[in-house]
Amino acid sequence: MSIKTILTEPNKILRQVSKSVEKVGQAERQLMDDMLDTMYHANGIGLAAIQIGVPKRIIVMDLSKKEEEKKPMYFVNPVIKNKNQNFSKYEEGCLSVPNQFAEIERPKTCEVEYLDYDGEKKIIKAEGLLATCIQHEMDHLQGILFIDYLSKLKKSMIIKKLSKDKNKSDRITF
Ligand code: NI
Repeated sequence: MSIKTILTEPNKILRQVSKSVEKVGQAERQLMDDMLDTMYHANGIGLAAIQIGVPKRIIVMDLSKKEEEKKPMYFVNPVIKNKNQNFSKYEEGCLSVPNQFAEIERPKTCEVEYLDYDGEKKIIKAEGLLATCIQHEMDHLQGILFIDYLSKLKKSMIIKKLSKDKNKSDRITF
């Protein structure tokens, strides 16, 4: 297991559409282990493979609280089967959009079909934070970030801020 670098916006790689996984094998499990390590290290609750530069339809999540036992979840080739017509609002953040948060509206519940860590077909009924998080992560597989739901003005302000911060960290200090 190893910790990978998380790509941050603006970065064209984050805008790629990820490809389906043909078979969950050793390479995919290794990738999921690395993703989970990377996510825990960054204090995130979800991570899509593209966020570490791998365009595969793979997501890891863990919604357990700090003091609780870890409950990692793995989703390969997730597909949303049913979306609730009712929406709920959650404040979202993203490891690829550091230090930015916004309230985003998404379907309240959804059913997701996917392959698990062992490549077995599963279906999950998600609600609350789980529903929000899985939809946020599945957006990554389509190259979509939560800031895309904001007004043009708000989005461009965030991107400008992130670009500035990036340039700052590229500077050499003596
Ligand atoms: Ni994200």
